[in-house]
Amino acid sequence: MSDKAWGGRFEKELDAIAASFSASVDVDVRLWPQDIDGSIAHVRMLADQNILSKQDADKIVDGLERIRASIERGEFDWDESKEDVHMNIEAALTTAIGDAGGRLHTGRSRNDQVATDMRLWTRQACADIVADIDALLEVLVDKADGHLDFLMPGYTHLQRAQPIRLAHHLMAWAEMLDRDRGRLLDAAKRMNESPLGSAALAGTTFPIDRDATAKALGFDHAMRNSLDAVSSRDFLLESVSALAICAVHLSRVAEELVLWSSQEFAFMQMSDAFTTGSSIMPQKKNPDMPELVRGKTGRVVGSLVNLLVMLKGLPLTYNRDLQEDKAPVFDAFDTVHDCLAVLSGAIGSAKFDKDRMAASLQAGFLDATEVADWLALRGVPFRDAHHVSGKLVQRAAREGKTLPELPLEAYQDEHEAFDDTIFYALDMETAVERRDVVGGPARGRVAAAIAELRGRLQARRDS
Ligand code: ARG
Repeated sequence: MSDKAWGGRFEKELDAIAASFSASVDVDVRLWPQDIDGSIAHVRMLADQNILSKQDADKIVDGLERIRASIERGEFDWDESKEDVHMNIEAALTTAIGDAGGRLHTGRSRNDQVATDMRLWTRQACADIVADIDALLEVLVDKADGHLDFLMPGYTHLQRAQPIRLAHHLMAWAEMLDRDRGRLLDAAKRMNESPLGSAALAGTTFPIDRDATAKALGFDHAMRNSLDAVSSRDFLLESVSALAICAVHLSRVAEELVLWSSQEFAFMQMSDAFTTGSSIMPQKKNPDMPELVRGKTGRVVGSLVNLLVMLKGLPLTYNRDLQEDKAPVFDAFDTVHDCLAVLSGAIGSAKFDKDRMAASLQAGFLDATEVADWLALRGVPFRDAHHVSGKLVQRAAREGKTLPELPLEAYQDEHEAFDDTIFYALDMETAVERRDVVGGPARGRVAAAIAELRGRLQARRDS
């Protein structure tokens, strides 16, 4: 380590093991755009406050822009011995413009610098995931629209329960993801305040203008407490929690894709573009993409646990432990981004099998509730009606029949109220259509839900 970085106090170079143990530039290099933006906002403010000359500030800004260009061209030489992204850029600046470069750090510390960079990075990353979620919502709403007339079993306990529409099921996924989107936006809103100017922990003796740098960087305001500003990372806990919940949702969706594309269900076929073969079994078409989405959920949940544990014992204010926040945060955002993209492709290209879904409605007595409802509508207490329906299911099962295959006499044996209108109630389409309540699977309700989500997505595109 050059003695310039640490000042005159140090007589020995950092031990080689300690240097490589503590270097973070291989990970935090991703913060370079935010680091340059933050430095430019800081230096312009220093000049406006007459803490730095206009000439020096211009030189620094010009030097930082040239560093930005050289990084973009892939020509910047990242050096592990300069520890992190901040020191790499500052060292390059001083090499490029001489002494003026050494004035950039006036009234600032890496503690407020890294906290600022991470807030800027995470704010953008949340916006990017929100856009990824919207892209998947578009896929879901299109698929739902195209499959309004595909009936299928709805499940509880993974047992066939009641008939629904495929579109209703797809729209349930959309609702889950739309809440994930909301959680990310909430987190992005709360994180949008500026630590810059809190310096190491206790602010600075220079007459800086923290509101000016906050505004220049698009923050809502400067953080109110300098100790909190440099040491808090709950903005990462919140955003990664939102990602972990999203990943769990994606995993549940993925699990259903795996089930539905199995030969046992065979409700859908995934496109060749999103399945893989087996090296030994020529007939196999494996749903590896949703399996990987399900598997990668562990990484995202792991990132959240990593951050929680890293923070739990830290005294105020900055501690070097905090450097360990970056890898889990970057990995969580990257992973959820990839999962959303791959599911958009896999669901968008999947083909659903209407006949197979309809056929699976025939076994499993999904119309048993209809029998109970039919009686209840005619004044039989629902609990009694439920019992009668159960008896009929038992009889049909014993005789190897479906409920519509039982004769009217069988119904009347169980309850004298039955007449032949019961057979209309047992039609699956009728059963779905009669669930004409807010949030229900009747065609008009699902069509309205699709139109409503389409409207919301359009409004988001327009804003
Ligand atoms: N690389 C460091 C981090 O990510 C930057 C802040 C270092 N501050 C310090 N006092 N050593 O946390």
